[in-house]
Amino acid sequence: MTAAFAKVRHPTGPRVRLQPLAELDGRAWRRIAQHFRDPEIAFLNGTPPNRMPVWLLKRVLKADARRVDRATYGILDEAGDYIGTIELYDIRPDRATLGIIIGERSHWSRGYGPEAIEALLDVAFEERGLQVVQLHTFADNPRAQAAFKKVGFSEVRRAPVAGGRVDVQMTLPRHVWLERRGGLAGYPPKRDEGHDAR
Ligand SMILES: CC(C)(COP(=O)(O)OP(=O)(O)OC[C@H]1O[C@@H](n2cnc3c(N)ncnc32)[C@H](O)[C@@H]1OP(=O)(O)O)[C@@H](O)C(=O)NCCC(=O)NCCS
Repeated sequence: MTAAFAKVRHPTGPRVRLQPLAELDGRAWRRIAQHFRDPEIAFLNGTPPNRMPVWLLKRVLKADARRVDRATYGILDEAGDYIGTIELYDIRPDRATLGIIIGERSHWSRGYGPEAIEALLDVAFEERGLQVVQLHTFADNPRAQAAFKKVGFSEVRRAPVAGGRVDVQMTLPRHVWLERRGGLAGYPPKRDEGHDAR
């Protein structure tokens, strides 16, 4: 972990705070297990419901989160309660893939998702210097697509996948992220930062 990355270990939005997975408390882990067991959330996420006991799920997810190509956080709301998980995975030198699950239904469609994503994009573009963040969602998840568009993602590809569903790939290049926040520091990239994604 670089010193620069360590500096922003708890990225924040107006209401949310991202807490590294390894630092979550027992209450949060019980909620994670509930969210992963929920058939509707599993469907939205394209995975089978997970029936692991909390201790095993914790062990598996913590081991995953230690991978150098992942940055996984719990999403805490303004009361400090755990409401979901967000991560960058398959992190490469220039790009990464974003995944998010807000597991608390009480917090859906209230802007928490975009806030958490904005906080994670700071990690991706500012701290890690990535050129592109991409993601996959399903065509039958319009709430997710709306939330991703709000923070600047745009659709690049649709493709049928198993189960009769349609995968929607969306991306957010660094220059779009920078333009959206007003062309602030760090743009244009230094020569040694590699090519501009435009
Ligand atoms: C997807 C998710 C991250 C979005 O975060 P969120 O905080 O709920 O997003 P927002 O508050 O921005 O709401 C999304 C927008 O979609 C709209 N929306 C909700 N349901 C909708 C529907 N069925 N059709 C169209 N738009 C819908 C909302 O009204 C809102 O738009 P508005 O703010 O202009 O009113 C979150 O809902 C979530 O994690 N859901 C469960 C798991 C999941 O779907 N994960 C994503 C897998 S790729």
